[in-house]
This record gives sequence, C-alpha cells and structure tokens, in this order.
Amino acid sequence: MKTTDLAAAERIAIRELLGAVNDEMEASVAPEWERAAWDVPRAAFVAERIYLGDELEPCDRANAPEAWLRAVYANDSVVTQVNDGADLGDGDRRASSSASAPSIVFRMLHMLDVRAGLKVLEIGTGTGWNAGLLNHVAGPGNVTTVEVDSKLAAEAAKRLRREGGAAHVVTGDGAEGYAANAPYDRLVSTCSVRSVPRPWVDQVKAGGVILTPWESPWICYGLLRMTVDDMGCASGPFSPYSAFMLMRNQRTDLRIFRDVVRDDHQPDESTTSLPPWRVTGDDLAAQFAMGLQLRDVWWTRQDDPDVDGVASRLWVATTDATSWAAIDWDGESDDRWTVWQHGPRRLWNEVEAAHAWWVLHDRPGPERFGLTVTAKGESAWLETPDRPVPAAG
Ligand SMILES: C[S@@+](CC[C@H](N)C(=O)[O-])C[C@H]1O[C@@H](n2cnc3c(N)ncnc32)[C@H](O)[C@@H]1O
Repeated sequence: MKTTDLAAAERIAIRELLGAVNDEMEASVAPEWERAAWDVPRAAFVAERIYLGDELEPCDRANAPEAWLRAVYANDSVVTQVNDGADLGDGDRRASSSASAPSIVFRMLHMLDVRAGLKVLEIGTGTGWNAGLLNHVAGPGNVTTVEVDSKLAAEAAKRLRREGGAAHVVTGDGAEGYAANAPYDRLVSTCSVRSVPRPWVDQVKAGGVILTPWESPWICYGLLRMTVDDMGCASGPFSPYSAFMLMRNQRTDLRIFRDVVRDDHQPDESTTSLPPWRVTGDDLAAQFAMGLQLRDVWWTRQDDPDVDGVASRLWVATTDATSWAAIDWDGESDDRWTVWQHGPRRLWNEVEAAHAWWVLHDRPGPERFGLTVTAKGESAWLETPDRPVPAAG
C-alpha cells in the first residue's frame, strides 16, 4: 500500500507512532525504516481479532474499529493469538503470538543492519509485519520467514502477497532455520531462545549477524547480537532490551506443587542474609546475571502461603525438578530469612554465590555480558570471551 492510499486517521496514527518510537529509542528511525513504516502499514498485518489488557479480552475490528486501530498504532505489542490457537472459550488465556512493540521492532531492525540485497532469515513470522518491513529494505526475494503455527503462517503469507511483499513464508520449526535458502547474511528471531539453535550458526555466512531475544528460566530479558566467524562459531554481546515469547519447542511448564515438591521431602533448614527480592525484584541486571549463571533454575513467589509465621515464600527450583529451595519472609525482619533446601543441589547456596560474583564484578548489566556458540556448545562471558561467567550446577 502506498502512503496516498492511507486514510487520514491512520496517517495521524502512524506519525504519532513514529514519534513514540523515536522517543523510546532516543534516536530517530532511519529514513529507510521510516519509509517502510509508511509503505507497510502495521494495520494491514494485524489480525481482525486482537486480545487486550491483562485478561486478554478479545477485541474485534468489525465491532470496535476505533479501539482496534488505537491498539494497532500504540507503541506496544498486540496479542493476535492465545493458547496456540486453541479455542478455550472463557478459560485462561495465554498469549502465543503477537505483533511486537514497534520500538523494539525498529530497534532490532537497526541492530540487524539490513541493506538492500542482503539475504535475511526471520524466525517467528507472526503477523508478517516485520517480514514486510524487512522485505521493503532487503528487496524482493531476499527475505525468508519461518512460523511454527501453520494457520498464522498462511494468514501472514496472504497479507504479504496482498501488500506486495515478496517474502517467502515457510511453516516449520524455526529452530531448524531454513536450509533451502541458506546461506543468509542476517538471521533475526522474534521469539526468544534459551539456547541458540546450532542450524542458525550453520546457515549464516561468515561475517553475518544473528540477532535474537534471549532468556533464561530465571528471567526473560536480553537481546543477543552475534557475528558468525569463518570457523563456524558465533559470538557477541547482549543488550538490555526485549521480553519476547519463548520459542515453542524450548518452553517448560513447571509448577512447584504439581511437579517439584513432594509431601515426603525432608528439606534442610538454614538461614540467609541475602534478601530474596534482591535477586527476583526490580533490578533486572541482577536477575539477568542470576539467569546467566544458573541456566537451569527458575523461581516463583507465593504470598500468604498458609504457613505459621510466613508472609511470603520464594521458591527456587531446577528445570529437571530434582532440587528446590524455599526462602521464607516473616513479614517483619530485614536481615535474616529462613531457608529450606532439598535435592542433590543446594540451590539457595548457588544463588548466594551467583549474587556474590555479580556484586564482586560491580553489578554488570546485560550489555557487559556476551555469549559464544561453538560446535561444543555455548559459553557466557563478561566483557570479553576469555573471561567466562561461572556456571552453577
Ligand atoms: C512475537 S511473535 C512474532 C512477531 C512477528 N515477527 C510479527 O511481525 O508479527 C513470535 C512468533 O514466534 C512464533 N514461534 C514460536 N516458536 C516458534 C518456532 N519454533 N519456530 C517458528 N516460529 C515460532 C510464534 O508462533 C509467534 O507467532
């Protein structure tokens, strides 16, 4: 669609959105991406039904066109699918596909350094909007995009065709990349990963870039930008952005009482002086550093756990559900917490060690860390690849 075809309300909305993106990025959207934003309007890609608010209430374009357009041109993600497309009626809704927030979309497009003629692989087609933007700059025939959900892939392909985009949409598991169109100059994922799939490194040319949201079971936070070398390795720094949906085949669904803690467990009791909220609270840099060191550990908080003298309990557990720790706060003290630990690993001791290491190194944020992927696996580092981050467990 060309600028002249856009209705007045949409033109105003796009202008305001670009302003909001500039404010959020603290930089101007580059001219080629600004042109793409006008020529590939977000509204042409977002589904007719979206889901709004904490409860993910459905909002249909046909019934509420103004609310729909407002959501589509807000600088926010728009949920376009829940529960992997399963119709659960009034049951709980969990977002399973969305159009990512425009400021992170454009931030990532800038970081990807796409130019005309470069071959790009996108993982996570979703609505197809990002593929449409990529296609606008990289040029026809240069963009391949992989979506695991066949219905979403078919809808995105239709929208891309309608809007004149020539991106090649593939239904499949993005963890496999898409070997048929390799090698690529750029690979960008719009779902997060807990480990970088090896085919991504194999399918990107030496000197090419892999950009992906990253997460640990501890926290979903961090964007990883790696450059591939001519030895088949990839390496590069994190930056402190993003909170994306986890790639479907890397999901874990664990619950403390269903999967981890059993009535016959007899945990050891001790105390700690590390406040539980220091490693699970607002300090995202602390959380990121915990996740980088404790790659198989997650946490959940239980308020009013119905235990005498306990106001709040932090649970920490391994993803194989064999070790756990519970840290109790009585609601008053601010220097001592009771710790219960069970299983082959003493998880809270590991958390204390990980936190102490982070403090010792001046509390680095994600931008001071990086990751290297080789044929042997992944290793995280601080500042430079020769300074490994200690891995617990
Ligand atoms: C945040 S959305 C993508 C947004 C999209 N780029 C856009 O412009 O609308 C993440 C997408 O990743 C998809 N996804 C999840 N796991 C995947 C996998 N293993 N392979 C490919 N796509 C996957 C989800 O179905 C979802 O549509």
